[in-house]
Amino acid sequence: MSDPPLVLGFETSCDETAVAVTRGFDVLSNVMASQVDEHARFGGVVPEVAARAHVEAIRALTHSALRDAGVHSMDLDAVAATQGPGLAGALMVGFSYGKALAWALGVPFVGVDHMEGHLFAPRLEHADYEPPAVVLLASGGHSQIIHMRDWGSYQTIGSTIDDAAGEAFDKLARFLGLGYPGGPAIDAESEGGDPDAVRFPRALPDRPFDFSFSGLKTSVVTYVRRHHAEGTLPPMPDIAASVQEAIVDVLVAKTMNAVDETGVTTIAAGGGVLANRRLRARLVEECEARGLSLFLPSPALCTDNGAMIGAAASFRLGRGETTSADAEIDSSQRLGSPKRE
Ligand code: KG4
Ligand code: ZN
Repeated sequence: MSDPPLVLGFETSCDETAVAVTRGFDVLSNVMASQVDEHARFGGVVPEVAARAHVEAIRALTHSALRDAGVHSMDLDAVAATQGPGLAGALMVGFSYGKALAWALGVPFVGVDHMEGHLFAPRLEHADYEPPAVVLLASGGHSQIIHMRDWGSYQTIGSTIDDAAGEAFDKLARFLGLGYPGGPAIDAESEGGDPDAVRFPRALPDRPFDFSFSGLKTSVVTYVRRHHAEGTLPPMPDIAASVQEAIVDVLVAKTMNAVDETGVTTIAAGGGVLANRRLRARLVEECEARGLSLFLPSPALCTDNGAMIGAAASFRLGRGETTSADAEIDSSQRLGSPKRE
């Protein structure tokens, strides 16, 4: 049997320029340049700033990824890049760069669905991770529950009807004055706080697999303003822990509803929100209690990275699927519909 393909993978769908070298599901290098500092002063990701920062970072990062992996560009079997979904200008940088590099090297190019990348991320650290599985994906741009019947066969069971979970963390942290990005800020502030101090609402009880986070924001704003005016505001760690608990509660409960519905015994997860310590602990607890196998990537592979793009590309290459030179990015791409030859 021949070796799995040596792939250079690019991920530039949002605010991280990420490049990795993978061989099949083995990570040989995985580097990234975060743009957090550049967006922090705006309190959120500014698309034009993101695209420009990708342009500035991508060349040096490519060299770092190849050097760390100890490979030369001439050794590569393929180049891959995120095709969508994501911010159009940001996607265009990695996609065009990857496509041009593949053309120059005379190797195949694979445009990867960002969400399929997240679905493959747990496989990079767990060789025994296999479908069928229920996968929770939660980040700044997406919140969904996917029934993965097989590699390449995905059904979205539930998704958010308004904000993504990470977006909720970011907006609430900004309101609470905890900084950007909000997820890590709320995670840190919650340390030692009482998650039951305030019972914020858990939305959409009648829709077992869908999320809604905009009502939570209204409820937190109303609560904080009122109690601040009355001088009865609980300490910030208690508020942060209670906000976090409201988000974590619905993510865990609805994932378990999907497990009950599908009858699968394997759960996986990904996306930046899965770096949250409370969410990770609650998932571990729940899966242990129910006898389910949980495959949780380490935090660095939960957030956007190039290795997951390389892994998904390796799967697609194994099926003989490549992406033509005239393919374009698709910022609103839906899982399972990348444009290929
Ligand atoms: O997957 P990701 O890096 O990029 C997107 O595709 O959006 O996710 C970023 C999101 C942000 O909203 C950030 O606040 C959230 O993930 N996040 C967290 C934590 N670390 C990052 N949310 C909760 N707790 C964390 N520790
Ligand atoms: Zn993502």
